[in-house]
Formats: sequence, C-alpha cells, structure tokens
Amino acid sequence: MKSISELTEKKPALAWILFFVTIGVVFLLGLLASSIIERRSEALFVNTPKTVIRDGEVRNEKWGENYPREFQSYYGTADTTFRSKYGGNATVDMLEEIPEMVVLWAGYLFSRDYKQGRGHFYAIQDINNTLRTGAPMTADAGPQPTTCWTCKSPDVPRMMKEEGITQYFNKKVAEGANYLTFPWDKGMTVEEMEEYYDGVEFSDWTHSLSKAPMLKAQHPDYEVAQHGIHAQRGVACADCHMPYQSEGGVKFTNHKMQSPLNNIAASCQVCHREETQTLVQNVYDRQDKVLEARHELEKTLVRAHVEAKKAWDLGATEPQMKDILKGIRRAQWRWDYVAATHGGSFHAPLECARIVAAGVSIALDTRLKLARLLSSLGFNEEVPYPDLSSKGKAQEFIGLDMKKSHEEKDVFLKEIVPSWKAAAAERESKLN
Ligand code: HEC
Ligand code: HEC
Repeated sequence: MKSISELTEKKPALAWILFFVTIGVVFLLGLLASSIIERRSEALFVNTPKTVIRDGEVRNEKWGENYPREFQSYYGTADTTFRSKYGGNATVDMLEEIPEMVVLWAGYLFSRDYKQGRGHFYAIQDINNTLRTGAPMTADAGPQPTTCWTCKSPDVPRMMKEEGITQYFNKKVAEGANYLTFPWDKGMTVEEMEEYYDGVEFSDWTHSLSKAPMLKAQHPDYEVAQHGIHAQRGVACADCHMPYQSEGGVKFTNHKMQSPLNNIAASCQVCHREETQTLVQNVYDRQDKVLEARHELEKTLVRAHVEAKKAWDLGATEPQMKDILKGIRRAQWRWDYVAATHGGSFHAPLECARIVAAGVSIALDTRLKLARLLSSLGFNEEVPYPDLSSKGKAQEFIGLDMKKSHEEKDVFLKEIVPSWKAAAAERESKLN
C-alpha cells in the first residue's frame, strides 16, 4: 500500500481535493457544534420566566408570555373539525344520539341539554350556552351550584382570593352552593363511591317519573382509567392526550388536549409499532363492545322508570317502593358512571364492562320486584315503552317545555353575558 505523500506526488490534484474535503468536513462539524450549542442554550433559557406572573393571574396571555409554545398549542383546542367514532372535538348532541338519556335524567337539567364537549378554548362560551346552567338573570339566581365554574373559569381563583374560599362556597350567598367534594372517603371504585354517597344520604336529584333519589357521576375519567393497563404500566393521561412535541432543542407538551386518535403518531406510536388503522380499530373494538352492553342497560333503566311511575299511579306506597327505588338508584349510578367516563371504554374496558354488567343485573332484579308489585296492584300487562325515536319526542314524553328553556336562554345570552364580559374587560384593563 502506498503512503499518501507518494500518491500526491504522482497526482498533485489529489492533494488539493484532500485539502478541500478536509475544510468541508471541518466546516460541517463546526455547523453541527454551533447548532448543538444553540439548541442547548435555547433549552436552557426556555424555562426562564420572561415576566413575573402575579398571584391569581387570570389572563391567559400573561401565562403565554412565559410558556409561548404551550400557549400557542393550546389555541389548537379551538379546532372543532375532528370526529372519531365516539369522540373528538366536534359538537355532538348526545341526547339526539341516545334519546333514552333524556328519560334517565328526567327531573335533572341534563335532560334538557347534553353535548359532547368541544375543546378547552370554548369552556366559558359553552358553559354559558348550555341549557344546563339555565338563565340566571341576577347574581344569586340559577339552577346550578357554582361548582361547574370552579374548573372552567380562570377567573375563579381571583374571586376565591378576593372573597375567601369559604365565602365563595357560602350557601347563604348562593343557595345550593356546594363545596367541590371528591367522593373518595371510602375508596375509588364505583361501589366505594356509592357507599360514600349512601352514607351521607346524598342524592343529586329526585327522578321525576320513578321518584328515585338519583346520583349523577361527574367526570369519573381518572378513577376509571386507574383500572386500565395503561395506567397500571405508568402511562400518564398527558402521554396520550398531550404528547411531547419538539421544536428546535425544546421539548414541550402539546397543549392541544384532544382525542389521541387525531394524533396517533405522536401519542400511541411512540410506544406501539402497529399501523394507525390497527390502533384505531383496537380503540373502536373496545368502545363498540362496552357501548353495546351499555345501551341494553339504558333501555332496561327506561323500563324500570316507567314501570315505577305506573306503580305510583296505581297507588303503590312508599314502603312498597323503597327497595325498588334503591335498585333504580344503584343501577343507574353504574350506568351513569360508565357513560360519564368518556374515554373509559378504551382506558379500562374490562372495568367498564364489569360495571355495566352489575348495572344490568340490578336493573333486571328491580324490574322483577316491579312486576310483582304491579301484579299485586292488579296490573299484569307490559307498561308500554315510550317513543324515544328523537330527543324532541323523549323531552315531550317527560313533559319538558323546551321552547321556554330556549327563550329564557336567549334573553340571558343577550342581556346578561355581554355585561359580564364588559365587567371583565374593565377589570382586566386596570391590571398591568
Ligand atoms: C407510553 C407508552 C404507551 C403509549 C403512549 C400508548 N400505549 Fe398502549 N400500551 C402500553 C403498554 C405498556 C401496554 C401494556 C402491554 C404490556 O404490558 O404487555 C399497552 C397496551 C395496549 C393495548 C392492549 C390493551 C389490552 O386491552 O390488553 C392496546 C390496544 C393499546 N395499548 C393501544 C394503545 C393506543 C390506541 C394508544 C394511543 C391512543 C396507546 N396504546 C398509547 C404503552 C403505551
Ligand atoms: C393510552 C392512551 C391514553 C391514556 C393514557 C389516557 N387516555 Fe383518555 N383517551 C384515549 C383514547 C384512545 C380515547 C378515545 C378517543 C376517541 O374516542 O376519539 C380517550 C378518550 C378520553 C376522553 C374523551 C375525549 C373525547 O374526545 O371524547 C377523556 C375526557 C379522556 N380520555 C381523559 C383521560 C384522562 C383523565 C386520562 C388519565 C387519567 C386519560 N384519558 C388517559 C387514550 C388515552
């Protein structure tokens, strides 16, 4: 083998080529080093606050100054175009999809309006818009406790700070104001939470047909998810719903909180090698199966409510109805728990199926008792199943005056909401 000097002696051009190649390589290495250093320093300074965020800061933009990437991505929640088979960020009228829900919630505001949530961007707008919050024309009016606002509005910490937390939840100021309570004293399963509610004799409302003392599940997503394999393997909610994203040398969580099915590459495929189609199908399979069973429970519960109403109409007494009403409460609590955990049929399909199965069993047992009672009251026929072919028909069946609800809401949106907005703008203009 010849040495380099021998080679270049014969072909001097080779020496020049070598020279320029070396310069090129050094130049590229230099670029790489400078890019690494730049990204490192970018990453180093990314968490250095640019402004001091005051205690109780309500303006999103102020937070955005210190967390620009998170803030920009948060605006992604304004997008309402994605619809998966059961989820997504489009407005879906759930009562129209499943009119049985109207009957299950008779006597409770959910029977008037229940839609699939859009993104966080719309939280305030939609809490004003929903018929569930009614049309409060004065500060102390309104059918709901302030509890819903507590999670939805960034302005609540300011109010709590100004008024004091006990005053914010003061029942004397706003009737029905309720301290936000997690029903976890006995444990975090559906049965343990029920035990807690039973223990304090709590009910959210009395059913207008069956007169059963009902419970409403509120966002049991976290509790249910704990029963699933992902939680048990340490996968966090954010891993799927707010996956990491890189920008230059900076890694941040994407604050477009959404259905992971709209971003399979960044959520599932970080861990799973399967094709997008397969993963989507895995999710739909689990959802289909749980929802199929859940729908059976919905229909059985509707029957139990109308049969209980029939029993009252025929003169049943409270002692005769006691066990039956308890059964309806218990079965529907299980239904609601699974229905309200929107991602539960994927997060923890077995747990959801188990709960629905228990609900069906309790509901059927209750209907047996009802059949016996109805028979003892001289009624031996089938109580007709109502026409639940649309939301409107179902609402008519339970006797709702929806026209009035909408009219009142329109007045509230036209007269009250603009004054709230003006007051907020005025208040915030005084902040620096
Ligand atoms: C951070 C990692 C991680 C992410 C992200 C992730 N998974 Fe998983 N997934 C796991 C682990 C770990 C298991 C359990 C497998 C095991 O331990 O054998 C699992 C199990 C599963 C299973 C089987 C569950 C069962 O019923 O037995 C399915 C289906 C699945 N994942 C789908 C998904 C989908 C769809 C997404 C995105 C929405 C996703 N995974 C996101 C880590 C992940
Ligand atoms: C392994 C990935 C994964 C993890 C971890 C996970 N989710 Fe989900 N989540 C999903 C999938 C998939 C869906 C179904 C989305 C759909 O139907 O479009 C979903 C749906 C939801 C929904 C309904 C959203 C919609 O678009 O309808 C909520 C709310 C939710 N999850 C909350 C949570 C919470 C809270 C946690 C943590 C306790 C969590 N998720 C953990 C994958 C995950």
